[in-house]
Amino acid sequence: MPTVAQSIHQWRAAFAAAGVDSPRLTIELLLAHVTGLDRGALIGMGNHELTPAQSAQLQALCARRAAREPLAYLLGHWDFYGRRFAVKPGVLIPRPETEAVIDLARKLLPPGAQGWAADAGCGSGALAVTLALEFPHLRVVATDLHPTPLQVTAENARALGVSSRLALVRMDALTGLKPAALFDLMVSNPPYVTPQDYPTLQPEVRDFEPQEALVGGQSGLIIPETIVHQAAARLKPGGWLILEHGMEQGAALRQAATSAGYKDIRTEKDFAGLDRILVAQA
Ligand SMILES: C[S@@+](CC[C@H](N)C(=O)[O-])C[C@H]1O[C@@H](n2cnc3c(N)ncnc32)[C@H](O)[C@@H]1O
Repeated sequence: MPTVAQSIHQWRAAFAAAGVDSPRLTIELLLAHVTGLDRGALIGMGNHELTPAQSAQLQALCARRAAREPLAYLLGHWDFYGRRFAVKPGVLIPRPETEAVIDLARKLLPPGAQGWAADAGCGSGALAVTLALEFPHLRVVATDLHPTPLQVTAENARALGVSSRLALVRMDALTGLKPAALFDLMVSNPPYVTPQDYPTLQPEVRDFEPQEALVGGQSGLIIPETIVHQAAARLKPGGWLILEHGMEQGAALRQAATSAGYKDIRTEKDFAGLDRILVAQA
């Protein structure tokens, strides 16, 4: 059977040839997953031979990664805001840039905030579950149009201990929530990619992540604009909308927020100085 060092050598080269990001880190993480050992511990175990079962499992996982299947789907989990979230095909893998939505919520609401928040398009539950954890007195409604995200969000809420403050509802955007001033906070990372940009996404995203989590209608703006308008009718006066969007959509969404009657409308930029998050107060 191959040793740890031989596996690293073989798959690091294969991943590099296949265009996989961070080939060495990738094989180390997959080896750690298969052996149950800590990544750090593997470093000193170059001569350690894999068992036949471990070797077979590693070969299968590495072949899938070399075919550009996302590492998160192979591991079955990914980290968001310092916590582990289960993920699987059918659910968007949470992105580090989305953590800025939580940072903004923490700036706008006190830690003891009570009342209700909503997350439109919950995916893995990264935003909804993290809000429930960061604001221990807040109740959160998580919506999604598709069943797999709702099922995975429920699983993550259970694993992270917030099920009792999280309601999951299948609906289109926020349509099923009564248009009444009930919410203190609404967040969303909706589908916002344009159909024109979709084919240019990297293979991990385009070929494996759910298209319905990514493409936001013709201009990429249909679902984001719907959420801006629907949230305006459901936030309490003074409540906040925080909505992630594409880097060329800031002006259109500020315009949508203005026509929906929000005040204090601004766009937060990412580290590259690009428009990425609409913040607006009802
Ligand atoms: C970009 S993903 C965001 C997932 C998660 N909030 C995150 O940040 O990782 C968008 C989510 O919106 C859901 N979705 C797509 N269209 C929707 C709609 N019309 N109404 C509600 N959810 C929708 C998708 O199923 C997907 O889970």
